[in-house]
Amino acid sequence: MSKSPASTTQQYRPETRLVHSGTLRSQYGETSEALFLTQGYVYNSAEECEARFKGEDPGFIYSRYSNPTISMFERRMIELEGAEAARSAATGMAAVTTAILAPLKAGDHVVASRALFGSCLYVIQDLLPRYGIETTLVDGADLDQWQRALKPNTKTFFLESPTNPTLDVLDIPSIAEIAHGGGARLVVDNVFATPIWQSPLALGADVVVYSATKHIDGQGRCLGGIILSSEAFIAEHIHNFMRQTGPSISPFNAWVLLKGLETLGVRVRAQTETAARIADVLASHPKISRLVYPGRADHPQAALVKKQMRGGSTLVGFEVKGGKQGAFRVLNELKLAKISNNLGDAKSLVTHPATTTHQRLKPEDRAALGISEGFIRFSAGLEHADDLIEDLTAALEKA
Ligand SMILES: Cc1ncc(COP(=O)(O)O)c(C=O)c1O
Repeated sequence: MSKSPASTTQQYRPETRLVHSGTLRSQYGETSEALFLTQGYVYNSAEECEARFKGEDPGFIYSRYSNPTISMFERRMIELEGAEAARSAATGMAAVTTAILAPLKAGDHVVASRALFGSCLYVIQDLLPRYGIETTLVDGADLDQWQRALKPNTKTFFLESPTNPTLDVLDIPSIAEIAHGGGARLVVDNVFATPIWQSPLALGADVVVYSATKHIDGQGRCLGGIILSSEAFIAEHIHNFMRQTGPSISPFNAWVLLKGLETLGVRVRAQTETAARIADVLASHPKISRLVYPGRADHPQAALVKKQMRGGSTLVGFEVKGGKQGAFRVLNELKLAKISNNLGDAKSLVTHPATTTHQRLKPEDRAALGISEGFIRFSAGLEHADDLIEDLTAALEKA
């Protein structure tokens, strides 16, 4: 078995690619992809070993660099996303940090949307400036701000869409055009959209990153991340950085994620349908003061959702009347949906962003992003929608 001849299934639709792409079958002809839980590889001769290190033989060398199970996961993601190449990482944050940091040097400049997951914001606001990389945060929905932030040394634009947790949708094609006009690349964190509902590379982005921990696993087991892009970007900026610094994914986690991909489409569709039903019920609930759901006509960027996404979201954002106390009461009254800071799981999960994922922000910065004390992020799972609606309405009633 060598690492290059992965099956090519690009002629098929995404559902088919999710099941078959990238499979490397061993001599045993296994149906389910094998888990190669090995650190290293043995060589038939010293000459073969030398050739492999010289890059003249395409086989595997060491699992910090690559591994058959990890290659299968990467290849399946490449074919799903329509990318040329990919490198997986130990976590979503390892993927985000590598995609942003690896191509940069002191003196470069990064522009990012202010509405970011807390750890992504740490990378932009705290980490990069420590190494002499300038950063500017903008209101991602305001295209003029992206344009005005461009400088001769701007190398990277970074955004999430929909944003975590307020589910704003940013205009990927227009932001990509502004980046390219200034000689910069656009990196998109596509975690909230999932590869099922949005394809940033096809919309003009240069790099897409995922926390595979979320929908790609989808059953709360493993951490993982992946960077997808052109062959040139991965070869020039990512490959050697990851090889030498080592934020590699474990083959076991890659195997779980690879198997998770087989059901990704089915799960995301079912979870989206449930989330849309929940959003419709909560929209007219007297104890809710604000509801955000990409896919509803009252979403602030409804036209943009239609233009760049193929579906809504597995997440619903809503603000409970009564601030933090009101939100906490609802969380504590829920029987089925679990309090957790994760998302994209088979189990419905509820988060209070102001005291968890975004607690590091100053109250005024949270307020500017629309993360009020009463705001709750609901990640719809695979339970029956009626059970979840009954759970939510009963909790709101009691709160
Ligand atoms: C939008 C977004 N990006 C990145 C991450 C980081 O992923 P991980 O927890 O796998 O490091 C998260 C995790 O919550 C996230 O929500």
